Amino acid sequence: MGDTWTPQSWRAKPIRQVPHYADEGALNSALGTIKGYPPLVFAGEARRLKERLAQVAQGKAFLLQGGDCAESFAEFHADNIRDTFRVLLQMAVVLTYGGGLPVVKVGRIAGQFAKPRSSDMETVGDVALPSYRGDIINGADFTADDRNPDPARMVTAYTQASATLNLLRAFAQGGYADLHQVHRWNLDFVNESPQGDKYKALADSLSETLKFMAACGLTSETTPQIRETEFFTSHEALLLPFEEAMTRVDSTSGDWYDVSAHLLWIGDRTRDLDEAHVEFLRGVENPLGLKCGPSTDPDTLLKLIDMLNPENDPGRLTLICRMGAEHAAQHLPPIVRAVEAAGKSVVWSCDPMHGNTVKAASGYKTRPFDLIRREVQTFFEVARAEGAHPGGIHLEMTGKDVTECTGGAQAISDDNLGDRYHTHCDPRLNASQALELAFMVAEELKAERDSQSSAAA
Ligand code: PEP
Ligand code: CO
Repeated sequence: MGDTWTPQSWRAKPIRQVPHYADEGALNSALGTIKGYPPLVFAGEARRLKERLAQVAQGKAFLLQGGDCAESFAEFHADNIRDTFRVLLQMAVVLTYGGGLPVVKVGRIAGQFAKPRSSDMETVGDVALPSYRGDIINGADFTADDRNPDPARMVTAYTQASATLNLLRAFAQGGYADLHQVHRWNLDFVNESPQGDKYKALADSLSETLKFMAACGLTSETTPQIRETEFFTSHEALLLPFEEAMTRVDSTSGDWYDVSAHLLWIGDRTRDLDEAHVEFLRGVENPLGLKCGPSTDPDTLLKLIDMLNPENDPGRLTLICRMGAEHAAQHLPPIVRAVEAAGKSVVWSCDPMHGNTVKAASGYKTRPFDLIRREVQTFFEVARAEGAHPGGIHLEMTGKDVTECTGGAQAISDDNLGDRYHTHCDPRLNASQALELAFMVAEELKAERDSQSSAAA
């Protein structure tokens, strides 16, 4: 390698999963507009996230990353943003308390628009049209007009990301995220959930802790950490022309940052060593994610790690493992073992969604909650056995009461899927399922903490 990186150097590499724009004039005009727009995030914030993730890599914090599979233009609404943000906060409080660790909160939000697809074309009857690739690229309706990649959509996506981020910043800093309020929402969940009793002990114990803290003078008025929170954004850096247009030199450090989000990840289908996506992301200083599916082999992974994080900088790289519940026990251990043995500092995160997609008898694409839970459990078991820190979870979820994944305490069945199946792409956990999973992970983290303190005693 050793080739010089520039924001354009990916253009000389083979590339997958990007659309062909027929109208080059319209493409250049949209990219020119985006290049002139302000950054969505600041380089200093991306550096702060990297510091937080370095804590995760060192076993001193936990990463919670979640949000839509794909954001859409049609569902762009303050209520949707608020509800996703609220559930992430609720989960974070449960995890912080259960695990006794700071939780780093990262949304799949404010820019998660572009989707990799298994096939370039979709055929219905005898009509073949380009596959839907997310609202930043084309439209979901099966018409030639909608499916034609339209560069102007990138400008709309930027605008939506910017307004979303504006609201998230207001929520995080403006009092909405107050710990007491988040705890009250959790108590409501515990009281209303069919399996609420299971979570009551943890919730009650947190109520007592908050009372104790108030008695010591630690209240929303006195303590900003109780009143405010830190929230970061992320998306798959798939649409490289857009990401290139959002890549700027940071005036403080002189380094390149992709200022479209704090963290960017490489998808499971675009992580080839000599291809465009890896080339682009190796050169920006943002913290990065790398999806690792069942086809990941340890040797290639070590090469990818060297390319993406040559300095072995803690916090730079998060490995988001998405093996599927059936395969995790077989595929995960060799990977964790190889990376740990090579002394590579990474955040180990578990995406229990993408390896567990099935087609229900009713025809809907779904994910059984039991498989999701099983993959998370296997992830913890493997990490424990290999001496690695189970650092985080990566979820597709929404704050709305959708019926997209089967199971959970609400016992959503195949027959219920049609009730409120709203996703534009993959099936998401609803608010109740997401919280249920958070309580389960909190128990795992607590067991982890207890075993460490007994080992130290
Ligand atoms: C995703 O996270 O939405 C996704 C497409 O994941 P993967 O690259 O792991 O398939
Ligand atoms: Co998805």
